[in-house]
Amino acid sequence: MQIQPFELERYFARHEFSARFLLGPSDCESLSMQELLALADPEARALWEGLGLGYTESQGHPLLREEIARAYPGLGAGHILTAAPEEAIFIAMNVLLRPGDRAVVLTPAYQSLHSLARAIGCRVDEWPLRPRSGRWALDLDRLADLLRTPARLVVVNFPNNPTGFLPTAGEWQDLLALVAASGAYLFSDEMYRLLEPRPELRLPPACTAYERAVSLAGLSKAFGLPGLRSGWLACREAPLLAEFQAYKDYITICASAPGEVLSLIALRAAESILQRNRGIVSANLAAARAFFSARPRLFDWLEPDAGSVAFPRWLGEPPLEQLAEQMVERHGVMFVPGGMFAFAGGYFRVGLGRRNLPQVLAALAAALG
Ligand SMILES: Cc1ncc(COP(=O)(O)O)c(C=O)c1O
Repeated sequence: MQIQPFELERYFARHEFSARFLLGPSDCESLSMQELLALADPEARALWEGLGLGYTESQGHPLLREEIARAYPGLGAGHILTAAPEEAIFIAMNVLLRPGDRAVVLTPAYQSLHSLARAIGCRVDEWPLRPRSGRWALDLDRLADLLRTPARLVVVNFPNNPTGFLPTAGEWQDLLALVAASGAYLFSDEMYRLLEPRPELRLPPACTAYERAVSLAGLSKAFGLPGLRSGWLACREAPLLAEFQAYKDYITICASAPGEVLSLIALRAAESILQRNRGIVSANLAAARAFFSARPRLFDWLEPDAGSVAFPRWLGEPPLEQLAEQMVERHGVMFVPGGMFAFAGGYFRVGLGRRNLPQVLAALAAALG
């Protein structure tokens, strides 16, 4: 497979651990081992203390899959395969797609959601979100047009990285109905789910609403635990899940034993972790909105609906890519330009999940002068 370099990951590799101020990280503030272990219930604590470091079950620890499945009404532990989130995308795309297939991908998007389809030899048609009245908006008529030609797969990501867009329940229903009528599979990246500002905004996972849907979720974003490398695929078609598992045998085979038990602890303590992280996002959102809206000649603020990122637009000079280079070189402020999401035009990502965003904004204010 000839695959394009992953621009966002290469860019982060260059700057993430050297820049002093990260303006665009996508995850929530990490928990320490000590904080996470303090949340363990007696059963998980005993699992942790008695843990052997042998191979683990390829499909995922049964208790972990049981805990995961609780979030998917109508599905059980047998409908879940654990994998690192990025690995899960790699597996699903390779199993679902063949050269010559057509995929319709919502943009802007995390690169692997479209790059892998291209690398497999598929035709990729982009379905762009657009700014409308100060927010991001979905064009369902455009999707209906795109699905007039047969597609093997539709790829979406809500809450969306990088825009923070979340469809309404009605839009979600209409989207699922359009995909179902076309017969395409749906790959639904739900990595930022559970970071809705109000519970009534939360959408049902795609795999609970459409039998040909595969949902991806994990602990990297909403839970602030990317170092666990913990994610999963959920789907109702047993043969498809078996194919995913067979593919995983050629990648990691199984998850790390400590990662599985720590993931179980995190999921059982979900409410307290999520409450902490939603609190951080909500305070940061207010700070970011105030910062960017106060500078209307330089920025067009686009309000996110959910998740831990926003995607406003730079209106000033020099062009964004040049500004990003200058900011990181001269001031240690790392921008994440929209080009990393195949979406140029001056947009850039703002991370709302880390506690130090106010300090990052202060550094940006000083750098802008
Ligand atoms: C939309 C989306 N999906 C999947 C991933 C992959 O998650 P991980 O980096 O934990 O493998 C990311 C990471 O940024 C993401 O933003």
